[in-house]
Amino acid sequence: THIITSPCIGTKDQACTEVCPVECIYDAGEMYLIHPDECIDCGACVPACPVSAIFPEEDVPAEETPFIARNYEFFGA
Ligand code: SF4
Ligand code: F3S
Repeated sequence: THIITSPCIGTKDQACTEVCPVECIYDAGEMYLIHPDECIDCGACVPACPVSAIFPEEDVPAEETPFIARNYEFFGA
């Protein structure tokens, strides 16, 4: 899956939601999160985000790794 990280908080640009072919990016309050069971890892959302908040799970920067669990837990995955 892909993971949305801290720059989304306070930004919520939503450009990612417009390019996702499977519409798996959901409003989670202070930020958007990606449903890990629905994401097809196409990568389209990565360049769409103006604050570079989205990474493939394996490429999430060390300081942003708490967002991996936050992403999974939000969807109960
Ligand atoms: Fe959607 Fe593709 Fe981004 Fe996954 S990687 S959230 S399928 S745009
Ligand atoms: Fe957030 Fe970037 Fe999408 S700011 S809502 S991850 S385009």
